[in-house]
Amino acid sequence: MRVCGWVIRRAQVGRVLIIEVSSSSSVKPCVLVFKPEREPDLYNVARNIDVGFALCFEGRVAEEQKSKRGVEYTVEKLEVYAKPTEPLPVDTSGKTPVLLDTRLKYRWLLARKPEERAIFRVRAGVIKAAREYFEENGFIEVHTPKIVAAGAEGGATLFKVQYFESEAYLSQSPQLYKQMLVASFEKVYEITPYFRAEKFNTTRHLNESWGIDVEQGFISGVEDVMKTLEELVAFIVNYVSRNYRDELEALGVESLRLTTPFKRLKFTEVVDILRSEGLDVREDEDLSDLAERKLGEIMAEKKHPVYFIVGFPWPSTAFYYMREENSIYTRKFDLDFMGLEIASGGQREHRYEKLVEAIRDKGLNPENYSFYLEAFKYGMPPHGGFGLGVERLLMKILNLENIREAVFFVRDRTRIVP
Ligand code: 4AD
Ligand code: MG
Repeated sequence: MRVCGWVIRRAQVGRVLIIEVSSSSSVKPCVLVFKPEREPDLYNVARNIDVGFALCFEGRVAEEQKSKRGVEYTVEKLEVYAKPTEPLPVDTSGKTPVLLDTRLKYRWLLARKPEERAIFRVRAGVIKAAREYFEENGFIEVHTPKIVAAGAEGGATLFKVQYFESEAYLSQSPQLYKQMLVASFEKVYEITPYFRAEKFNTTRHLNESWGIDVEQGFISGVEDVMKTLEELVAFIVNYVSRNYRDELEALGVESLRLTTPFKRLKFTEVVDILRSEGLDVREDEDLSDLAERKLGEIMAEKKHPVYFIVGFPWPSTAFYYMREENSIYTRKFDLDFMGLEIASGGQREHRYEKLVEAIRDKGLNPENYSFYLEAFKYGMPPHGGFGLGVERLLMKILNLENIREAVFFVRDRTRIVP
């Protein structure tokens, strides 16, 4: 067996030399044990190896396992590929804690450390699980443009880009394009970046984040879409609990099992619940972060870690959500995970005339959306979908305090490098 990786610790215990290697194969390090009388030639090579070296070894799992930190190996072959040209700027062994700012600067290096590595292994697992779910359930993966002419989620968070002679934007969401594709595919999904000029520095917002987006046609109502989302989230969370035990252990988090259906709360019910708790909530506005968190506490007590809020008021939503007849409420829902919104979605307005009316009602110009509106003229079925935030989901699964911990290279108000 050949394993490659980086040295994160080196220790001499009496005559025994121990080298810990962080490799791609597992979250726990490989613990290489060298004894001068057992492998004198290798011992002499290993003596000169230090933290930060990149190497490969061939060997076998040791019969006797004494290390609590990783799996012990006896080595038969050792090849050094690179050594640091200067001391490492951060401690990859985990002995010295690293401040968040430094962590974000050196994440690519710190990912040699089991706790950091675990986060990104689980992140990859979340994406893998999502793809598996979609492939098993008849969705086709699509890719839509990230340079766009019109926003979907409101002008305030659009990033402008110069596109030759004209002005364009970075995509906030694949919203308009995934809907257009329901004119030719029944069920589509995209795993995609979102670019949003969020003005505020919070622990739950990024300026570049990733979403798992779905759009499905031929639905009989918003419930069909909610069913897809709850099945997907339960599948991902349970997949992580089953397949990433070492990672969860390295991070000291308990694994969670979710069962469907998730609890559904009407927006109006949520308003009543929060008012009875003394919060000032309005019937025609989105919930504040504080209100979301309070609701999370109430739902956690009732053993509902994940729950839907359905029927958001029209003044709080984007233009494409379907409105209930003669009502201020829409078929928009959120999915919240212990007080944090992890997804938004709903049934869309698929009737051309009503959609044009809705765009006007939001103070937007239908002409700017003509490329999108055209897709509603030639047999657009009733449809709906959602966007599930990858970092937000990961935050909740791994109990991370700050959304920035869920990304390798953070884009926020003050970070554009590395
Ligand atoms: O709630 P949002 O804005 O909804 C949409 O983008 C719709 N087009 C979805 C739909 O299909 N109707 O974004 C979806 C999710 C949020 O719930 C959140 O988890 C995540 O994407 N998200 C962000 N995560 C981190 N930082 C940001 N700035 C985010 N913006 C959205
Ligand atoms: Mg939302």
